[in-house]
Amino acid sequence: MKSVVLPGGEAVPALGLGTWNMGDARARRAEELAALRAGLDAGLRLIDTAEMYGDGRSEELVAEAIAGRRDEVFLVSKVLPGNATRRGTLAACEASLARLKTDRIDLYLLHWRGGTPFAETLEALQALQRAGKIRHYGVSNLDLADMREWWAAPGGPKLATNQLLYNLTRRGIAFDLLPWLRERGVSVMAYSPLEQARMLNNRALLQIAAQAGCTPAQLALAWLLAQDGVIAIPKSGSVACVLENRAALDLRLTPELQAALDRAFPPPRSAQPLEML
Ligand SMILES: NC(=O)c1ccc[n+]([C@@H]2O[C@H](COP(=O)([O-])OP(=O)(O)OC[C@H]3O[C@@H](n4cnc5c(N)ncnc54)[C@H](OP(=O)(O)O)[C@@H]3O)[C@@H](O)[C@H]2O)c1
Repeated sequence: MKSVVLPGGEAVPALGLGTWNMGDARARRAEELAALRAGLDAGLRLIDTAEMYGDGRSEELVAEAIAGRRDEVFLVSKVLPGNATRRGTLAACEASLARLKTDRIDLYLLHWRGGTPFAETLEALQALQRAGKIRHYGVSNLDLADMREWWAAPGGPKLATNQLLYNLTRRGIAFDLLPWLRERGVSVMAYSPLEQARMLNNRALLQIAAQAGCTPAQLALAWLLAQDGVIAIPKSGSVACVLENRAALDLRLTPELQAALDRAFPPPRSAQPLEML
């Protein structure tokens, strides 16, 4: 299993499981639980969730999926910016821990920038870390200017990741933000790595995948997994798709395939505003 080493030396799997929009529908629950468990069985033991997803229903689904096997899992959750004051962050984390039925979150992220000064959120994150309630902290959806500000705040440089929109059709961060983070040893967690399935019918992607002998989803994930310090967290509520995505780890991109992807999905030539979903 390809892994990414966090600052501090801990290795986490480079391919994980997203959970946005999971846990919302009763009719899909059994299949979603089976999908998460199939992912864990296949070694995809990093699970990404957030207090925002389904107002906590995603965290509750995750708790059920990992019951009895908490120690196998690297659990990521997020605090909403509206809760990211010192007291609000502590309370949000307690509520997430209760929904997740665990005593610790492995990586706790500020979901996006809100009105609370970074230094205040960081104070709370460090207090949670000292108390053993979170093991690592990080951010999501921070652009380069935000990142510089975060970095200058006490404890800022100790972040483990910036979770960002990054896929073949959204390559903007590769111009400046990704290299900036890489130089500092901060991992990038690529969210919506399949562009929420919208890219899977792209004609060029279909053609290149046929050439590579894989599916478009596998090619899109293999492209991310080939990059240093990048973790991809595709979401699927289907066992078949989770296993299909898992097989992307076995795909080796040849220089010819890389070049074909660069022609179809050109890299940025200048700085781009950060995109979010
Ligand atoms: N930090 C943030 O602001 C932020 C924002 C967005 C997302 N995220 C995180 O990143 C995770 C992934 O992003 P995402 O859920 O937005 O989108 P995504 O992973 O790019 O795409 C998910 C969609 O692709 C489908 N899919 C998955 N594997 C497939 C396959 N092999 N073949 C065909 N379809 C497939 C899924 O359908 P099925 O479920 O039916 O398989 C679902 O509709 C989220 O779940 C969440 O954990 C974070």
